[in-house]
This record gives sequence, C-alpha cells and structure tokens, in this order.
Amino acid sequence: MAHRPKIAVVGSANIDLTTFTNQFPKPGETIFGQRFDLGFGGKGANQAVAARLCGAEVFMVARVGDDLFGPATIENFRKLGIDTTHVKQIEGLSSGVAPIFVEPNGQNRILVVKGANDALKPADVDAAAETLKAADCIVLQFEIPLETVYYTIQFARRHGIRCILNPAPAQSVELSELKGLDYFVPNESEAETITAQSAKDLADAKKCAQQLLASGVKRVIITLGANGSLLASADGSEHLPPFQVNSVDSSGAGDAFIGSFAVFLGEGVPEREAVRRANLYAALSTTGVGTQKSFYDRARFDDELDARS
Ligand code: RIB
Repeated sequence: MAHRPKIAVVGSANIDLTTFTNQFPKPGETIFGQRFDLGFGGKGANQAVAARLCGAEVFMVARVGDDLFGPATIENFRKLGIDTTHVKQIEGLSSGVAPIFVEPNGQNRILVVKGANDALKPADVDAAAETLKAADCIVLQFEIPLETVYYTIQFARRHGIRCILNPAPAQSVELSELKGLDYFVPNESEAETITAQSAKDLADAKKCAQQLLASGVKRVIITLGANGSLLASADGSEHLPPFQVNSVDSSGAGDAFIGSFAVFLGEGVPEREAVRRANLYAALSTTGVGTQKSFYDRARFDDELDARS
C-alpha cells in the first residue's frame, strides 16, 4: 500500500460567490446573470481539500473572519477530516471572499478580498511548528502575506521538508526568497507577471522556467490550462500533454493540480508521473461547477486514471 502522505497547507480560505454569465455589465449598467453558486474556496483551502480527497492526512494553517463564513469554513474542513488546530477566527475582520464570474466556455475571472487571510503572520507559523515539522510537504500560495510565505519557505528549508509554492494570485516576487524551493508552480499568467516575459506558447514558457530556475528554485512546473503543463529542472524540461474532458468551469483547477500533485509525490510516485496524474485530476475538476465541490475523491479518480492509461 502507498505511503499516506502528511500535507500541511499554510494558506487562504475564502467563500466563493460564483456567477455564471454570458456577458459583463458596462459601467453604470445592470444586466442579468444566468446562475449563482455559493461554495467554500480559497486557493489554500482548495489545495487542502484536493489533497484530503486524494487520501492524504491534511493539516490547515489559516485565518478566517468574524462573520457567518468563519465557523462554516472551519466546519467544512472538519467534515472533510482536515485538521483545524491551527485555523483561527480573527475578531473584527471579514472572512476572505471571492466573487467569481464564469463564462459559457468555462473560463473564469476571480476577484479576491483577502479579509482575515491577511492576518496569518510568521508568528502563526511558529505556533504551528510542531505540526509543520511532522509534514512530508508544506504547500503555500499568495493569498496570505508574502512575509509569511517567505518565512514558511525558510522554515521548510531549515527542517528539510518538501515545499511547493503556487504563486497565485500573481504578485511581484523577491526571487532571492525562493532559493532552494522544491517546486514553484505558476500558471502561464503568473509566470508572465513574475518573470516579465511572455509564456504564451511552450517555447516562451520554457524561457520563463529557465529564468525561474536561474534564481535558485529547484523545479518549476508551469500549468498551461488546456495545454497540460511544463516540468522543468536543471536536467531539462518536458511538456506533459493535457487530458481531454468536457469543461464547464475551470475555477480551482490549478488548486486541484497542486493538492493532488503533493499527494502523488508524497506517495512516492515518480515526479513525471505525478505531474501527469495531477494534470488529469485538474482536468476532471473542470467538468463540475465550483471549486472544492468539483474535486474527485480518490476512488473516482483512480477509475478515471485506469480508464485512460
Ligand atoms: O483558485 C480558485 C480560488 O481562487 C477560488 O476558490 C477563490 O476563492 C480564489 O482564491
């Protein structure tokens, strides 16, 4: 039986307010959307849920708001079997929320209001140190303060714990802080913002990956949406092609990739195959509406993997 990985996510939790629409209002205009969905989201929480559904033991380090959404978010983690010892409610702050707009082709646009996510500080990482030290892998994103992200990367490096950083949403990064990071996993637009280079096609994405590797990151994976992903290290780069699915909503697909990838790696699946499986897990998540609620559990995923192998 595969080793059951312990994954710690230091990151965000949001409530997703998803509107399905054929068009966007002009300034001063009111129009009708087609459908609405309320769900648990946030890049960190989504990655934690994907890892949990793939079978890992998962520990969340997060901050939620002093509103209806805070306790509901904690309860959602608990119901899924995610450890919430280090998820705390912050008085006087709202929870993170994300109005999301999805077009008929499944393409999404997301606006994030960070709220309590911004209150997750380096001292909170220290408070969770014993939990983090026991993890096989620490997963990070950019919806919490950058100082906390950098601090956690150093913590992981000091304790020899594998660390995966998903730099989403894109922000300008102090590349020297990423030295020694095991996996840096942007999508094309995040790679473009961070490197100030185009990542429009595979050749450009390879150049972005080279630049990131030159800054001391050990491995770069650029997720390319419907074009699969690019895995790059000092040994070279490889394009892992996409899986064909009928996409209805791509929200959270990047998070599905990260959470599942952390689990496959932790189980000892070879890196290239772990990326290939994460490509499939992410693609399958786009066949359902919403973020966490569109993620497959392990049994369903394994059936799909078998059917496509
Ligand atoms: O990656 C999708 C996520 O981005 C959504 O769940 C939303 O909350 C934002 O964090």
